[in-house]
Amino acid sequence: MANSTFITRPTSGDVVELILADHRLFEDLLRECRRIDRDRAAARQALAEILVAHAEAEEKHVYPTLRRKDAIGSHEEEHGEEEHAEITEALLEFLEAKGTDTQKYDDALEKLSAVVAHHSVEEELTILNPALTEVSGTVRAELGAAFAAGRNRLLDQGCASITQVRALLATAVDDGAIAPAAAREEADRIKAEAKERAHEVEDAAKEN
Ligand SMILES: [Fe+2]
Ligand SMILES: [Fe+2]
Repeated sequence: MANSTFITRPTSGDVVELILADHRLFEDLLRECRRIDRDRAAARQALAEILVAHAEAEEKHVYPTLRRKDAIGSHEEEHGEEEHAEITEALLEFLEAKGTDTQKYDDALEKLSAVVAHHSVEEELTILNPALTEVSGTVRAELGAAFAAGRNRLLDQGCASITQVRALLATAVDDGAIAPAAAREEADRIKAEAKERAHEVEDAAKEN
């Protein structure tokens, strides 16, 4: 699988269909990253480029118009941006894994798979469904062209080197879309402890 040829560059279409096609592409590329018989390094970089280009194009061209048209509220838009920041964080960890055959690679891939899947579900339910019912096909086609142009421009430029993803995360922290690193690390520690305790409770219950 060649890095740049795997990602197609449609230039028009219903924005909902274009976004859904990318969500399917995320799943395909995540699976390529998991497979041992694939060029994992190429799949990882292709995944990074499309994740970043897609989210940036949504934030710049799709969310603001859907808000103006009252299809979604500020809560949906801000929550979408927060989840994009979580994806950026998990993606950075994945890109920072040295090599593609290490435990760190597997762990970072598992985490990224989870945050991407979570965001796709929420976006499809709370943003794309309102786009289908609250705005016209004409508007969705206009949005599709704008989304595709923004996305393709970023793909052509290259938008997901480690340096670029690091800068994106720093901007997300500055914008308040995600907490600073220290707070996130502390939250992760608390979550890991709680998870361990929850497992203990479940294991004890199974033994009864
Ligand atoms: Fe999306
Ligand atoms: Fe999104």
